[in-house]
Amino acid sequence: MTARLVVMISGNGSNLQAILDAIANKTLPAEVVLVVSNRKNAYGLERARNAGVKTLYFPLKPYTDDEKSREQYDADLAERIAVYAPTFIVLAGWMHILSAAFLDKFPRQVINLHPALPGEFAGMYAIERAYDAYQERKIAFSGCMIHYVIPEVDAGAAIATAEVPILDSDSLEDFEKRMHATEHQLLIYTLRSLISRKGG
Ligand code: GAR
Repeated sequence: MTARLVVMISGNGSNLQAILDAIANKTLPAEVVLVVSNRKNAYGLERARNAGVKTLYFPLKPYTDDEKSREQYDADLAERIAVYAPTFIVLAGWMHILSAAFLDKFPRQVINLHPALPGEFAGMYAIERAYDAYQERKIAFSGCMIHYVIPEVDAGAAIATAEVPILDSDSLEDFEKRMHATEHQLLIYTLRSLISRKGG
């Protein structure tokens, strides 16, 4: 089957790019039907436009300005996305928490990529926090994971994990690069297996 993917981003979009490249190389049987960003200047939006993919900029600010609830934002966003009939919704650096008002519309279809192993470094700056924890000898290695999304941040059943070593000689930048390279591979591998399970 060719899966219909909606990819949600807030920034650089290197993981979105990995998906777009895998599709272009015919190593992922999917189509990105929409890229959503909550930030207007997210570089990922440009990556989407370069690949001829539709984009939706959907900021929270108008809702907070109008004193509309977060649930209203989530419900409206879900409605805009549902029109695209996604097979999966991939949170690839999406930095907003999604409530049940969004998640209940897409049961077991929303997956998140997080640059840490299950139960470790939930939330922002996970890479920096893992690097610091290594310097303090609190951890020996880190990793990344893909998990089903539940309202609790960076939690939910893990679908796939990969360890990422930290070396004594690593700068934060070295470790970050290794993390992102691993994430790109894990994301494509996981999507491929989720899509084949769905089709089979
Ligand atoms: C990735 O490292 C992803 O794991 C992380 O944001 C980065 C996005 O990079 N997500 C989280 O921290 C979620 N809590 P990208 O924009 O280059 O794909």
